[in-house]
Amino acid sequence: MTVQTRYFVLISLLFVATIIVITYINLQAEGNEFIHIRMHLSMEPDIQILTLNEISDHHDFNTTFFVESSDAGYLNPRQSCSVEAAARAQYPHLVTIYMTKVQVEKMEQQNDWIKNLTNVKLVHLEAKKFFTNDNLGRIYEEVKNTSPHKVEHVSDLARIALLKKFGGLYIDLDAVLLKSTADLNSFLLKNFANGILKFQKGHPIVEALYHRLNETKFNSMSWTGLGEELIRKVMADTCNFTTNNFEEASQTCNVTFLNNEYFLPVFWGNWKDLFGKDIELETYKPEVMKLAYAIEFSNFLTSNIPIVKGRRQLFEQVAKKYCPSVYHTLPKFYKR
Ligand SMILES: *[C@@H]1O[C@H](CO)[C@@H](O)[C@H](O)[C@H]1NC(C)=O
Ligand SMILES: *[C@@H]1O[C@H](CO)[C@@H](O)[C@H](O)[C@H]1NC(C)=O
Ligand SMILES: *[C@@H]1O[C@H](CO)[C@@H](O)[C@H](O)[C@H]1NC(C)=O
Ligand SMILES: *[C@@H]1O[C@H](CO)[C@@H](O)[C@H](O)[C@H]1NC(C)=O
Ligand SMILES: *[C@@H]1O[C@H](CO)[C@@H](O)[C@H](O)[C@H]1NC(C)=O
Repeated sequence: MTVQTRYFVLISLLFVATIIVITYINLQAEGNEFIHIRMHLSMEPDIQILTLNEISDHHDFNTTFFVESSDAGYLNPRQSCSVEAAARAQYPHLVTIYMTKVQVEKMEQQNDWIKNLTNVKLVHLEAKKFFTNDNLGRIYEEVKNTSPHKVEHVSDLARIALLKKFGGLYIDLDAVLLKSTADLNSFLLKNFANGILKFQKGHPIVEALYHRLNETKFNSMSWTGLGEELIRKVMADTCNFTTNNFEEASQTCNVTFLNNEYFLPVFWGNWKDLFGKDIELETYKPEVMKLAYAIEFSNFLTSNIPIVKGRRQLFEQVAKKYCPSVYHTLPKFYKR
Protein backbone atom coordinates (compact mmCIF):
# COMPACT_ATOMS: atom_id res chain seq x y z
CA MET A 1 0.00 0.00 0.00
CA THR A 2 1.21 3.45 -0.79
CA VAL A 3 1.33 6.08 1.91
CA GLN A 4 -1.64 7.86 0.31
CA THR A 5 -3.72 4.68 0.35
CA ARG A 6 -2.90 4.14 4.02
CA TYR A 7 -3.97 7.69 4.86
CA PHE A 8 -7.13 7.19 2.87
CA VAL A 9 -8.00 3.98 4.73
CA LEU A 10 -7.19 5.59 8.09
CA ILE A 11 -9.35 8.66 7.39
CA SER A 12 -12.20 6.52 6.11
CA LEU A 13 -12.08 4.43 9.27
CA LEU A 14 -12.12 7.57 11.43
CA PHE A 15 -15.06 8.88 9.43
CA VAL A 16 -17.03 5.67 9.85
CA ALA A 17 -16.20 5.59 13.58
CA THR A 18 -17.44 9.17 13.98
CA ILE A 19 -20.71 8.32 12.23
CA ILE A 20 -21.17 5.32 14.50
CA VAL A 21 -20.58 7.39 17.63
CA ILE A 22 -23.00 10.11 16.51
CA THR A 23 -25.65 7.54 15.63
CA TYR A 24 -25.10 5.85 19.00
CA ILE A 25 -25.63 9.12 20.86
CA ASN A 26 -28.72 10.04 18.86
CA LEU A 27 -30.32 6.65 19.22
CA GLN A 28 -29.66 6.60 22.91
CA ALA A 29 -31.28 9.98 23.30
CA GLU A 30 -34.33 8.67 21.46
CA GLY A 31 -34.37 5.52 23.55
CA ASN A 32 -36.44 2.54 22.39
CA GLU A 33 -34.96 0.41 19.61
CA PHE A 34 -31.33 0.97 20.34
CA ILE A 35 -31.77 0.06 23.97
CA HIS A 36 -33.32 -3.13 22.70
CA ILE A 37 -30.15 -3.92 20.76
CA ARG A 38 -27.99 -3.13 23.75
CA MET A 39 -30.04 -5.55 25.82
CA HIS A 40 -29.30 -8.29 23.34
CA LEU A 41 -25.62 -7.55 23.20
CA SER A 42 -25.08 -7.56 26.94
CA MET A 43 -27.54 -10.44 27.43
CA GLU A 44 -28.64 -8.64 30.56
CA PRO A 45 -32.02 -6.96 30.35
CA ASP A 46 -32.47 -3.54 31.90
CA ILE A 47 -34.77 -3.35 34.88
CA GLN A 48 -38.29 -3.65 33.50
CA ILE A 49 -41.01 -1.28 34.63
CA LEU A 50 -44.58 -2.36 33.95
CA THR A 51 -47.81 -0.42 33.75
CA LEU A 52 -50.93 -1.26 35.75
CA ASN A 53 -52.51 -2.85 32.66
CA GLU A 54 -49.48 -5.03 32.08
CA ILE A 55 -49.51 -6.37 35.64
CA SER A 56 -53.25 -6.93 35.95
CA ASP A 57 -53.31 -10.38 34.32
CA HIS A 58 -50.69 -11.67 36.74
CA HIS A 59 -52.21 -10.48 39.99
CA ASP A 60 -54.04 -13.01 42.16
CA PHE A 61 -54.82 -13.77 45.81
CA ASN A 62 -51.28 -15.06 46.40
CA THR A 63 -49.64 -11.95 44.97
CA THR A 64 -47.75 -9.77 47.45
CA PHE A 65 -47.61 -6.05 46.86
CA PHE A 66 -45.60 -3.20 48.30
CA VAL A 67 -46.16 0.53 47.72
CA GLU A 68 -43.28 3.03 47.50
CA SER A 69 -44.98 6.42 47.68
CA SER A 70 -42.12 8.73 48.66
CA ASP A 71 -41.17 9.53 45.03
CA ALA A 72 -37.61 8.42 45.81
CA GLY A 73 -37.46 6.67 42.44
CA TYR A 74 -35.52 3.64 43.71
CA LEU A 75 -35.46 1.29 46.70
CA ASN A 76 -33.18 2.01 49.65
CA PRO A 77 -31.22 -0.83 51.30
CA ARG A 78 -33.80 -1.71 53.93
CA GLN A 79 -36.64 -1.66 51.41
CA SER A 80 -34.53 -3.77 49.09
CA CYS A 81 -34.08 -6.33 51.85
CA SER A 82 -37.84 -6.54 52.38
CA VAL A 83 -38.45 -7.10 48.67
CA GLU A 84 -35.82 -9.81 48.34
CA ALA A 85 -37.06 -11.58 51.47
CA ALA A 86 -40.63 -11.49 50.13
CA ALA A 87 -39.52 -12.82 46.75
CA ARG A 88 -37.79 -15.76 48.43
CA ALA A 89 -40.59 -16.48 50.92
CA GLN A 90 -43.40 -16.28 48.36
CA TYR A 91 -41.68 -17.97 45.42
CA PRO A 92 -43.06 -18.86 42.89
CA HIS A 93 -45.88 -16.42 43.64
CA LEU A 94 -45.54 -12.89 42.38
CA VAL A 95 -44.17 -9.95 44.38
CA THR A 96 -44.89 -6.50 42.98
CA ILE A 97 -43.73 -3.04 43.99
CA TYR A 98 -45.89 -0.10 43.04
CA MET A 99 -43.72 3.00 42.81
CA THR A 100 -45.08 6.51 42.42
CA LYS A 101 -41.83 7.52 40.75
CA VAL A 102 -39.17 5.47 38.96
CA GLN A 103 -35.59 6.48 38.19
CA VAL A 104 -34.32 3.62 36.08
CA GLU A 105 -30.67 4.71 36.08
CA LYS A 106 -30.61 4.98 39.85
CA MET A 107 -32.31 1.60 40.13
CA GLU A 108 -29.74 0.08 37.78
CA GLN A 109 -27.06 1.26 40.20
CA GLN A 110 -28.78 0.54 43.52
CA ASN A 111 -31.22 -2.24 42.76
CA ASP A 112 -29.32 -4.42 40.33
CA TRP A 113 -30.15 -7.48 42.47
CA ILE A 114 -33.77 -7.18 41.30
CA LYS A 115 -32.88 -8.66 37.91
CA ASN A 116 -32.04 -11.95 39.60
CA LEU A 117 -35.44 -12.31 41.20
CA THR A 118 -37.72 -13.73 38.52
CA ASN A 119 -40.93 -13.37 40.55
CA VAL A 120 -40.47 -9.66 41.30
CA LYS A 121 -42.17 -7.06 39.11
CA LEU A 122 -41.99 -3.28 39.34
CA VAL A 123 -44.97 -1.17 38.43
CA HIS A 124 -45.07 2.56 37.91
CA LEU A 125 -48.13 3.81 39.76
CA GLU A 126 -48.79 7.25 38.39
CA ALA A 127 -50.82 8.66 41.27
CA LYS A 128 -52.49 11.38 39.21
CA LYS A 129 -53.78 8.87 36.67
CA PHE A 130 -54.47 6.13 39.18
CA PHE A 131 -56.67 8.11 41.56
CA THR A 132 -59.20 9.14 38.96
CA ASN A 133 -62.38 7.82 40.52
CA ASP A 134 -64.30 10.92 41.67
CA ASN A 135 -63.86 10.16 45.25
CA LEU A 136 -60.33 8.79 45.38
CA GLY A 137 -59.38 11.76 43.23
CA ARG A 138 -60.94 14.14 45.74
CA ILE A 139 -59.13 12.59 48.71
CA TYR A 140 -55.87 12.37 46.78
CA GLU A 141 -56.04 16.12 46.09
CA GLU A 142 -56.78 16.77 49.77
CA VAL A 143 -53.84 14.62 50.80
CA LYS A 144 -51.53 16.37 48.35
CA ASN A 145 -52.62 19.84 49.41
CA THR A 146 -53.13 19.53 53.14
CA SER A 147 -51.56 16.42 54.60
CA PRO A 148 -48.40 16.59 56.69
CA HIS A 149 -48.16 12.83 56.16
CA LYS A 150 -48.38 12.75 52.35
CA VAL A 151 -46.19 9.70 51.85
CA GLU A 152 -48.18 7.57 54.31
CA HIS A 153 -51.58 8.83 53.20
CA VAL A 154 -50.92 8.25 49.50
CA SER A 155 -49.77 4.76 50.41
CA ASP A 156 -52.93 4.20 52.52
CA LEU A 157 -55.11 5.18 49.57
CA ALA A 158 -53.11 3.09 47.13
CA ARG A 159 -53.35 -0.10 49.17
CA ILE A 160 -57.14 0.17 49.47
CA ALA A 161 -57.51 0.89 45.77
CA LEU A 162 -55.18 -1.99 44.81
CA LEU A 163 -56.91 -4.44 47.15
CA LYS A 164 -60.20 -3.42 45.58
CA LYS A 165 -58.81 -3.85 42.07
CA PHE A 166 -56.84 -7.09 42.54
CA GLY A 167 -56.96 -8.46 46.11
CA GLY A 168 -53.79 -10.06 47.50
CA LEU A 169 -51.35 -9.46 50.34
CA TYR A 170 -50.34 -5.90 51.08
CA ILE A 171 -47.28 -5.48 53.28
CA ASP A 172 -45.31 -2.41 54.37
CA LEU A 173 -41.78 -1.99 53.08
CA ASP A 174 -40.47 -2.12 56.62
CA ALA A 175 -41.41 -5.76 57.11
CA VAL A 176 -39.13 -8.68 56.28
CA LEU A 177 -41.13 -11.78 55.34
CA LEU A 178 -39.78 -14.99 56.83
CA LYS A 179 -42.07 -17.51 55.16
CA SER A 180 -44.86 -17.89 52.64
CA THR A 181 -48.32 -16.54 53.43
CA ALA A 182 -50.02 -18.73 50.81
CA ASP A 183 -51.66 -20.80 53.58
CA LEU A 184 -53.49 -17.75 54.97
CA ASN A 185 -57.00 -16.71 54.02
CA SER A 186 -58.26 -13.13 54.10
CA PHE A 187 -56.95 -11.64 57.33
CA LEU A 188 -56.38 -8.57 59.46
CA LEU A 189 -54.13 -8.25 62.48
CA LYS A 190 -55.96 -7.83 65.77
CA ASN A 191 -54.49 -4.35 66.23
CA PHE A 192 -56.37 -3.31 63.02
CA ALA A 193 -53.27 -1.61 61.66
CA ASN A 194 -53.18 -1.41 57.88
CA GLY A 195 -49.51 -2.33 57.44
CA ILE A 196 -50.33 -5.95 56.69
CA LEU A 197 -53.59 -7.06 55.06
CA LYS A 198 -54.64 -9.95 52.87
CA PHE A 199 -57.96 -10.03 51.08
CA GLN A 200 -59.72 -11.84 48.29
CA LYS A 201 -60.82 -9.55 45.49
CA GLY A 202 -64.38 -8.39 46.24
CA HIS A 203 -64.12 -9.12 49.98
CA PRO A 204 -66.84 -7.24 51.95
CA ILE A 205 -64.27 -5.49 54.17
CA VAL A 206 -62.39 -4.07 51.19
CA GLU A 207 -65.64 -2.99 49.57
CA ALA A 208 -66.67 -1.35 52.84
CA LEU A 209 -63.30 0.41 53.20
CA TYR A 210 -63.64 1.72 49.67
CA HIS A 211 -67.19 2.95 50.25
CA ARG A 212 -66.25 4.45 53.59
CA LEU A 213 -63.71 6.65 51.86
CA ASN A 214 -66.68 8.31 50.22
CA GLU A 215 -68.41 9.19 53.43
CA THR A 216 -65.38 10.01 55.50
CA LYS A 217 -64.57 13.64 55.94
CA PHE A 218 -60.88 12.98 55.79
CA ASN A 219 -58.91 14.55 58.60
CA SER A 220 -55.50 15.02 57.04
CA MET A 221 -53.87 15.68 60.40
CA SER A 222 -54.60 12.17 61.56
CA TRP A 223 -51.74 9.81 60.79
CA THR A 224 -54.02 6.76 60.94
CA GLY A 225 -57.11 8.43 59.43
CA LEU A 226 -56.95 6.33 56.27
CA GLY A 227 -55.60 3.31 58.10
CA GLU A 228 -56.49 1.97 61.52
CA GLU A 229 -59.25 4.55 62.16
CA LEU A 230 -60.97 3.69 58.91
CA ILE A 231 -60.65 -0.04 59.57
CA ARG A 232 -62.16 0.36 63.04
CA LYS A 233 -65.17 2.18 61.56
CA VAL A 234 -65.69 -0.62 59.07
CA MET A 235 -65.30 -3.20 61.83
CA ALA A 236 -68.08 -1.54 63.79
CA ASP A 237 -70.45 -0.86 60.87
CA THR A 238 -69.92 -3.84 58.64
CA CYS A 239 -68.55 -6.59 60.87
CA ASN A 240 -70.50 -5.86 64.02
CA PHE A 241 -67.33 -5.55 66.08
CA THR A 242 -69.11 -3.64 68.83
CA THR A 243 -68.41 -5.83 71.81
CA ASN A 244 -64.75 -6.53 71.04
CA ASN A 245 -65.81 -10.00 70.03
CA PHE A 246 -63.34 -11.19 67.41
CA GLU A 247 -65.13 -14.48 66.88
CA GLU A 248 -68.42 -12.88 66.00
CA ALA A 249 -66.80 -10.30 63.73
CA SER A 250 -64.82 -13.07 62.08
CA GLN A 251 -68.03 -14.89 61.17
CA THR A 252 -69.98 -11.80 60.19
CA CYS A 253 -67.22 -10.66 57.83
CA ASN A 254 -65.63 -13.99 56.81
CA VAL A 255 -62.16 -12.89 57.88
CA THR A 256 -59.41 -14.22 60.14
CA PHE A 257 -57.98 -12.01 62.89
CA LEU A 258 -54.36 -12.90 63.45
CA ASN A 259 -52.37 -12.25 66.59
CA ASN A 260 -50.13 -9.25 66.05
CA GLU A 261 -47.07 -11.31 66.91
CA TYR A 262 -47.35 -13.26 63.68
CA PHE A 263 -46.08 -10.17 61.89
CA LEU A 264 -44.75 -8.14 64.79
CA PRO A 265 -42.70 -10.62 66.79
CA VAL A 266 -40.74 -7.61 67.99
CA PHE A 267 -43.27 -5.13 69.37
CA TRP A 268 -42.48 -1.63 68.04
CA GLY A 269 -41.76 -0.38 71.56
CA ASN A 270 -38.95 -2.94 71.73
CA TRP A 271 -37.19 -1.86 68.56
CA LYS A 272 -33.91 -1.82 70.49
CA ASP A 273 -33.99 -5.61 70.37
CA LEU A 274 -33.52 -5.34 66.61
CA PHE A 275 -30.77 -2.76 66.49
CA GLY A 276 -28.88 -3.30 69.73
CA LYS A 277 -26.23 -5.95 70.11
CA ASP A 278 -25.86 -9.33 71.75
CA ILE A 279 -29.13 -10.92 70.73
CA GLU A 280 -28.84 -14.10 68.67
CA LEU A 281 -31.49 -14.73 66.04
CA GLU A 282 -31.36 -18.48 66.63
CA THR A 283 -32.33 -18.15 70.29
CA TYR A 284 -34.53 -15.02 70.21
CA LYS A 285 -38.09 -15.73 71.47
CA PRO A 286 -38.22 -19.21 69.91
CA GLU A 287 -41.94 -19.85 70.54
CA VAL A 288 -42.90 -16.56 68.93
CA MET A 289 -40.46 -16.79 66.04
CA LYS A 290 -41.58 -20.33 65.20
CA LEU A 291 -45.01 -18.94 64.27
CA ALA A 292 -43.93 -15.60 62.81
CA TYR A 293 -44.50 -14.78 59.14
CA ALA A 294 -42.54 -11.54 59.19
CA ILE A 295 -40.53 -9.12 61.30
CA GLU A 296 -41.62 -5.53 61.13
CA PHE A 297 -38.91 -3.06 62.02
CA SER A 298 -41.00 0.11 62.48
CA ASN A 299 -39.17 2.37 60.09
CA PHE A 300 -40.76 5.48 61.53
CA LEU A 301 -38.72 4.91 64.70
CA THR A 302 -35.61 3.23 63.38
CA SER A 303 -34.77 4.67 59.96
CA ASN A 304 -31.80 6.64 61.28
CA ILE A 305 -30.25 3.86 63.28
CA PRO A 306 -27.23 2.55 61.45
CA ILE A 307 -26.73 -1.11 60.76
CA VAL A 308 -23.10 -2.12 60.84
CA LYS A 309 -22.05 -5.25 59.04
CA GLY A 310 -20.38 -7.69 61.40
CA ARG A 311 -21.80 -6.11 64.54
CA ARG A 312 -24.41 -8.86 64.85
CA GLN A 313 -27.40 -6.67 65.51
CA LEU A 314 -30.54 -8.81 65.26
CA PHE A 315 -31.60 -6.92 62.13
CA GLU A 316 -28.24 -7.60 60.52
CA GLN A 317 -28.62 -11.33 61.21
CA VAL A 318 -32.13 -11.25 59.72
CA ALA A 319 -30.84 -9.46 56.61
CA LYS A 320 -27.97 -11.90 56.12
CA LYS A 321 -30.32 -14.87 56.33
CA TYR A 322 -33.44 -13.60 54.51
CA CYS A 323 -32.06 -11.16 51.92
CA PRO A 324 -28.55 -12.52 51.21
CA SER A 325 -28.14 -10.97 47.74
CA VAL A 326 -28.97 -7.49 48.97
CA TYR A 327 -26.94 -8.03 52.12
CA HIS A 328 -23.82 -8.78 50.10
CA THR A 329 -24.18 -5.65 47.97
CA LEU A 330 -24.51 -3.39 51.01
CA PRO A 331 -21.77 -1.15 52.32
CA LYS A 332 -20.34 -1.92 55.75
CA PHE A 333 -22.44 0.78 57.35
CA TYR A 334 -25.90 1.71 56.17
CA LYS A 335 -29.06 3.38 57.33
CA ARG A 336 -32.20 3.16 55.25
C1 LIG B 1 -27.18 -12.35 39.91
O1 LIG B 1 -26.98 -13.64 39.39
C2 LIG B 1 -25.73 -13.81 38.74
C3 LIG B 1 -25.71 -15.19 38.10
O2 LIG B 1 -26.11 -16.18 38.99
C4 LIG B 1 -24.61 -13.62 39.76
O3 LIG B 1 -23.37 -13.74 39.14
C5 LIG B 1 -24.72 -12.23 40.36
O4 LIG B 1 -23.76 -12.05 41.38
C6 LIG B 1 -26.10 -11.99 40.93
N1 LIG B 1 -26.22 -10.61 41.33
C7 LIG B 1 -26.65 -10.23 42.52
C8 LIG B 1 -26.65 -8.76 42.80
O5 LIG B 1 -27.04 -11.03 43.35
C1 LIG C 1 -52.46 -19.74 46.56
O1 LIG C 1 -51.49 -20.66 47.06
C2 LIG C 1 -52.05 -21.79 47.69
C3 LIG C 1 -50.92 -22.60 48.29
O2 LIG C 1 -49.85 -22.73 47.38
C4 LIG C 1 -52.86 -22.58 46.67
O3 LIG C 1 -53.47 -23.69 47.30
C5 LIG C 1 -53.93 -21.68 46.07
O4 LIG C 1 -54.61 -22.36 45.05
C6 LIG C 1 -53.31 -20.42 45.51
N1 LIG C 1 -54.36 -19.50 45.08
C7 LIG C 1 -54.30 -18.84 43.92
C8 LIG C 1 -55.43 -17.94 43.64
O5 LIG C 1 -53.37 -18.98 43.16
C1 LIG D 1 -69.16 7.99 46.08
O1 LIG D 1 -70.01 9.10 46.06
C2 LIG D 1 -70.41 9.49 44.77
C3 LIG D 1 -71.17 10.80 44.88
O2 LIG D 1 -72.04 10.78 45.98
C4 LIG D 1 -71.21 8.38 44.15
O3 LIG D 1 -71.62 8.75 42.84
C5 LIG D 1 -70.37 7.12 44.07
O4 LIG D 1 -71.14 6.04 43.58
C6 LIG D 1 -69.82 6.77 45.45
N1 LIG D 1 -68.86 5.68 45.30
C7 LIG D 1 -68.76 4.72 46.17
C8 LIG D 1 -67.72 3.69 45.89
O5 LIG D 1 -69.48 4.64 47.15
C1 LIG E 1 -74.42 -7.63 66.21
O1 LIG E 1 -74.12 -7.83 67.58
C2 LIG E 1 -75.23 -7.69 68.45
C3 LIG E 1 -74.71 -7.81 69.88
O2 LIG E 1 -73.88 -8.92 70.04
C4 LIG E 1 -76.29 -8.72 68.09
O3 LIG E 1 -77.40 -8.56 68.91
C5 LIG E 1 -76.66 -8.55 66.62
O4 LIG E 1 -77.58 -9.56 66.22
C6 LIG E 1 -75.44 -8.61 65.70
N1 LIG E 1 -75.81 -8.28 64.34
C7 LIG E 1 -75.39 -8.98 63.27
C8 LIG E 1 -75.81 -8.45 61.95
O5 LIG E 1 -74.70 -9.98 63.37
C1 LIG F 1 -65.36 -16.85 52.86
O1 LIG F 1 -64.09 -16.67 52.22
C2 LIG F 1 -63.66 -17.79 51.50
C3 LIG F 1 -62.29 -17.47 50.93
O2 LIG F 1 -61.54 -16.70 51.81
C4 LIG F 1 -64.62 -18.11 50.38
O3 LIG F 1 -64.19 -19.25 49.69
C5 LIG F 1 -66.02 -18.32 50.96
O4 LIG F 1 -66.94 -18.47 49.92
C6 LIG F 1 -66.43 -17.14 51.83
N1 LIG F 1 -67.67 -17.45 52.51
C7 LIG F 1 -68.71 -16.61 52.48
C8 LIG F 1 -69.92 -17.03 53.28
O5 LIG F 1 -68.69 -15.54 51.89
